[in-house]
Amino acid sequence: MNLTQRAKKVFTPALDWETDLAIKSTQGCHLEDYQGKKYLDFTSGVAVCTIGYNHPKVVAAAKAQLDLMLHHGTVFLTESVVRAGEKLQEIAPKGIAKFFFSNSGAEAVEGAMKLARFSTKRQGIIAFRGAFHGRTYGAMTLTTSKAKYRTAYMPLVPGVYHARYPNPYRDGAAATELALTELRDLLKREIAPEGVAAIFVEPVQGEGGYIVPPADFLKALRELCDEHGILLVFDEVQSGMGRTAKWWACDHFKLSPDILCAAKAIASGFPLSAVGAREDLMDRWEANMHGTTFGGNPVSCAAAVATIETIQSEKLLEKGARLGERMMRRLKEMQARYPAIGDVRGLGTMMALEFIDPKKPQAKLPSRDIQTSVRTQCLRDGLVLLPCGTHGNIIRLLPPLITPDEEADRGLDILEKAVKSP
Ligand SMILES: Cc1ncc(COP(=O)(O)O)c(C=O)c1O
Repeated sequence: MNLTQRAKKVFTPALDWETDLAIKSTQGCHLEDYQGKKYLDFTSGVAVCTIGYNHPKVVAAAKAQLDLMLHHGTVFLTESVVRAGEKLQEIAPKGIAKFFFSNSGAEAVEGAMKLARFSTKRQGIIAFRGAFHGRTYGAMTLTTSKAKYRTAYMPLVPGVYHARYPNPYRDGAAATELALTELRDLLKREIAPEGVAAIFVEPVQGEGGYIVPPADFLKALRELCDEHGILLVFDEVQSGMGRTAKWWACDHFKLSPDILCAAKAIASGFPLSAVGAREDLMDRWEANMHGTTFGGNPVSCAAAVATIETIQSEKLLEKGARLGERMMRRLKEMQARYPAIGDVRGLGTMMALEFIDPKKPQAKLPSRDIQTSVRTQCLRDGLVLLPCGTHGNIIRLLPPLITPDEEADRGLDILEKAVKSP
């Protein structure tokens, strides 16, 4: 029996692997299977290994911490945990000053929901259609990237509303106005602003399609929240920690949230997430109004410190910006050549191709079949890619920031070959 067959015998089919690859080892931007076949990776393990798999500095920091201590619960403190908080403080968006550590992105979103309701004494929460915030009850209630994630689990958490997220590819110049009109309408018809604790938004919508919103949309959200005392929560679980070649996607828009959710790339593969918030909000949270057993694990925290220091010392944000520009140039050239590529978009190294029916390009009909065929061919040729989007017609490209130019070019050659004859 191979690994895939053995996995089928022990795991629920609810766990759906994106590929049937069985990988023995990972390094940098490469994976190697049990037969010794090498793959180039444009997934970063779903936005986690942003500085490359098994970065030697992260491995060394984790090993050193393992020799000292691997668990503290909330029984006592240790250096790596406080240091991780201090490093996050250093890089956080302006105004985000204090943190709560947990383990997963969904947990950070749950924490942010609780902090928002607790600190405002309001109950309403607004999220955006197409968003993905996680799979626990609160986070799942905010999530509407696919009905499949929610339908069987009703009733969900009360007090959550959804508004339109702007989609510049589909709605053109009207994208912001359409989204804001719907939001204002919601605040008139369904819940008045004084009942809304928070608006949760991904500054780049991730799982929902790697959609970059127009800057004026996020700015208007910031203004609306300020006007009504609503907390603005940026879920940067996927877009944060260097993925867009800035620390946070919101840095591109020169905006700060009141609450920040971070996870995935924060510790390069060790489980760690964080809710960050303004000091006055965090200081309002009373002892034991929230808690955790494993959150802020000392090994994860040592890995987080090493991750942040590595991004700083190796100038990986600058490197990522150059890598993103290089890849985006080539992707745009491909878009001009192949009508199946309806859109190419992204920020830094958070990029996507949207596939449409090439016979009717004006109609922009999503083509999941082309996405699947392109990804299958790429995998055969040694390039690992991930899909996204409600209609499953988008391929997201999220290479590690350390990917050398020649490997990026080689990956795009493989991709272009597949797009040429999908
Ligand atoms: C924006 C965003 N928020 C939250 C989550 C949930 O994170 P986790 O799977 O670690 O719970 C994800 C996961 O993909 C995400 O992309």
